Amino acid sequence: MSEYVLAGVAWPYANALIHAGNLVGAYLPADIFSRYQRLRGRHMLMVSGSDAHGTPITVRADKEGVPPEVIYRRYHRSFLELFQKFGLAYDLFTSTHTENHFRVSQSIFLALYENGYLFTQKAKQWYSPTLGRFLPDRYVEGTCYICGYEHARSDQCDRCGNLLDPTKLINPRSKLDGSTPELRDTEHFYLDLPKLEPELLDFLRRNQERWRPPVVRQSISFIQTEGLKPRPISRDLDWGIPIPLPGWEHKVLYVWFEAVIGYLSAAVEWSTLTGQPDAWQHWWFNPEARTYYFIGKDNIPFHTLMWPAELIGSGTAFERIFLGQDRGHRLVLPYDVPANQFLNLEGCKFSGSRNWALWGLDLLERYDPDPLRYYLTAIMPETKDTDWYWEDFLRRNNDELVATWGNLAHRVLSFAYKHWGHVPEPGPLADLDIALLEEIERGFQTVGDHLEHVRLRAGLQEAMRLAAQVNKYLERRAPWQRIKEDRQDAGTIIYTALRAIDNLKTLFAPYLPFTSERLHQYLGYEAPIFGRQYTETVEDALGTHEVLRYDPSPATGRWEPSALPPGQALRKPKPLFRKLDPKIIEEEKARLGEPPEDCVGKS
Ligand code: MF3
Ligand code: ZN
Repeated sequence: MSEYVLAGVAWPYANALIHAGNLVGAYLPADIFSRYQRLRGRHMLMVSGSDAHGTPITVRADKEGVPPEVIYRRYHRSFLELFQKFGLAYDLFTSTHTENHFRVSQSIFLALYENGYLFTQKAKQWYSPTLGRFLPDRYVEGTCYICGYEHARSDQCDRCGNLLDPTKLINPRSKLDGSTPELRDTEHFYLDLPKLEPELLDFLRRNQERWRPPVVRQSISFIQTEGLKPRPISRDLDWGIPIPLPGWEHKVLYVWFEAVIGYLSAAVEWSTLTGQPDAWQHWWFNPEARTYYFIGKDNIPFHTLMWPAELIGSGTAFERIFLGQDRGHRLVLPYDVPANQFLNLEGCKFSGSRNWALWGLDLLERYDPDPLRYYLTAIMPETKDTDWYWEDFLRRNNDELVATWGNLAHRVLSFAYKHWGHVPEPGPLADLDIALLEEIERGFQTVGDHLEHVRLRAGLQEAMRLAAQVNKYLERRAPWQRIKEDRQDAGTIIYTALRAIDNLKTLFAPYLPFTSERLHQYLGYEAPIFGRQYTETVEDALGTHEVLRYDPSPATGRWEPSALPPGQALRKPKPLFRKLDPKIIEEEKARLGEPPEDCVGKS
């Protein structure tokens, strides 16, 4: 039976453009992994969307003097454009601002409520008398009561790094108009994490062998430093999902509480859109299904503790509340959370405000997606923080991608096209030919094993190593000489090389989908390896939202050795990649802004 695999990909806040650090941290790894799973014939579902609510969006809206919805729509659109150009094949990339997501989130809330994992408590909170409303924590700044820093955010100090009790802030000011806020009573819902502690610890213990060490470490250290304390999950904001209880409608769910529910709600929406309304249950009510969460390290506790707490705590009540059916199903817990560390740029942290950044859409104006995907995978921060260096980008493009793989494919294909026009009929294969094909075919095992365990860098390295083996083979067998003496033997060599390249095409396909499709065509195939991405506008009670979708129906790619038929007509090939001019290094560095203050002189 074929397995059900879900890739939940971090939901970007719809308040800023996406940069290379975001791409390499979560979105690209999810796509590589999912494309591999698709080739394996698994029931793959890759979902995400725009994180539309919360103070990140309202702060920006207030700054620009526009409604939050304007901000959300603007950036959401930019995400769809980027993901399509970059080849991120989401089955569904939607948004948290949909009726469906509201309904699913409210059902989770009600299930937790019913099961006794929510309680209310009064608390003091900063209130702005000038605006007549409560101020979210990050709207209030003042002096840190721990280190004396004068521009501390009320909930967190950027100088000493401590999380703060907002009510203890000294000399508070509203960031909106500089006026002095006052403490007033308000009431909030809290998620009772202490009550779920035994189950959560058990869940962590069961998974710690499989998870990346930093993920386990950070989850445990979160419990040790912050403890599993009750977390407020409601907010006094008017942009968000209303609390579904009488008298509470003017408060909304905390953005982190509801954004993680998007992994579930997006699967539900996908099912509706594809006309199989119950299909999501194969992933979410199926204990055998494997759910993976692709995120950056700053999101770890939300995915290893808070989301599992919501899943465990909603129990079987979710099914009853959401579907009106009581069959005892529970939602499945995360199988793996392969979070990445951070990417830096030329030795300094990314800083959007200082333009010390590489914006996704901007990069795609000057470079093709596959070379970017190649480099980002080669430096993927899977175990520690890594750096993008333009010099390194150039070197890896020219000396690895072009020299080892691109030239190999192009040389063999052009030669084959010129002398035969089709895949040559081989004579009996020599030992060298057989040895090469066997070695390359073992790649389905070795590269596949890395991909299966989300070791994406290692998988790419192994595929590249195999490409280098084909180059060595061609040096020894020298078909370009051989054709002058023995056309039949040259045909055998070229047949062998074409099959090796056909295999490599599949091994590279999750990483380099665009050029692999082109190569696939040059080799004479008709149907594509992967399906088709497209956008669509969906209408619901909240209005319309645009989504990115993936139609797998034309896909024919399989994670298995090539059976390239002799005689298959080839198409005229073009180079897969281009060599880059070393002058881009200085040009690109000149485009960057100032290195961030804490890094001056380092780069
Ligand atoms: N919007 C958050 C961020 O950009 C990530 C949210 S992931 C989710 O850091 F699971 F909560 F959606
Ligand atoms: Zn401080």
